[in-house]
Amino acid sequence: GKEPLRVLVTGAAGQIGYALVPMIARGVMLGTDQPVILHMLDIPPAAEALNGVKMELVDAAFPLLKGVVATTDVAEACKGVNVAVMVGGFPRKEGMERKDVMAKNVSIYKSQASALEQHAAPNCKVLVVANPANTNALILKEFAPSIPQQNITCLTRLDHNRALGQISERLNVQVSDVKNVIIWGNHSSSQYPDVNHATVNTESGEKSVRELALFGLCIMPGRLNGEFISIVQQRGAAIIKARKLSSALSAASSACDHIRDWVLGTPEGTWVSMGVYSDGSYNVPAGVIYSFPVTCKDGEWKIVQGLPIDELSRQKMDATGAELVDEKALAYSCLS
Ligand code: NAI
Repeated sequence: GKEPLRVLVTGAAGQIGYALVPMIARGVMLGTDQPVILHMLDIPPAAEALNGVKMELVDAAFPLLKGVVATTDVAEACKGVNVAVMVGGFPRKEGMERKDVMAKNVSIYKSQASALEQHAAPNCKVLVVANPANTNALILKEFAPSIPQQNITCLTRLDHNRALGQISERLNVQVSDVKNVIIWGNHSSSQYPDVNHATVNTESGEKSVRELALFGLCIMPGRLNGEFISIVQQRGAAIIKARKLSSALSAASSACDHIRDWVLGTPEGTWVSMGVYSDGSYNVPAGVIYSFPVTCKDGEWKIVQGLPIDELSRQKMDATGAELVDEKALAYSCLS
């Protein structure tokens, strides 16, 4: 059989962690033929709860799970990990300034970057989930210069999947028949969910989502630009309102999708959205972690090039890029 891969989950005693670790242990992230050793990190106040999660993992008797490390020691947690899913962070609390939350997360991601750099396996793949996800990932990249920059990414796949889900609901088609939406930019409400290139597999072949919308199926074309975009942008807030807790199962599932497609490849003709270090493709700012459409093969992602961008898209891609540049400046101001 295959050698086990070591997967780190930080913030593993939290909500997303609780949904995510059983998925990883079942092979949802790396494949049902891939044994795993879970490394779970949390902070001392959560140590007891973390140990409870470890007990449940033992109780679930997952055949693929070859070991569990549950610790509050960052170095121990990072030791030899092949995949690192960074879910731990400092949440925004009532009355806190944006800058104060940023400062807390910058300090967390700076120190965890060093720990990963020193202790993780070479070529470790990193996915940052904790908010502000793009900027936390950028700080991690800046302070782990020996980790290849293409190995550091952030999660916008949840937003991507939300867009697929909305199209499926509105056009009354199976979600598995919808593909190639794009989330551009920041994992925040400035993100741009773009359906201009999305398609649906129908009985009469592949149709563009715009074309289907034009035929009057459930959505008006104008609404693809207005209501659809704001529903996807505000979906996180809607979940909090309904559950009194933020999205956890969908975040965990999307984190598995992100890593699985990155490691095992995207299907032919399909792209997904990932927050990656921008090279300035599509004239968006370089030097920030920006969500792009990517295809993956042999463990590497590549930005899909050459898609036509209309004027409305241009504006929205620039606006979310400007927000990321601004967040980067704020993060740097917290370092000094
Ligand atoms: P949670 O508060 O339930 O769990 C967070 C856990 O992180 C807690 O157990 C906490 O003790 C731990 N933690 C805090 N500081 C840590 C540190 N320095 N090292 C290790 N662990 C640490 O939060 P939840 O709901 O699990 O969400 C986690 C993060 O994911 C939040 O930042 C949230 O905003 C973000 N998120 C991102 C999404 C995305 O699509 N990118 C979607 C949903 C949530």
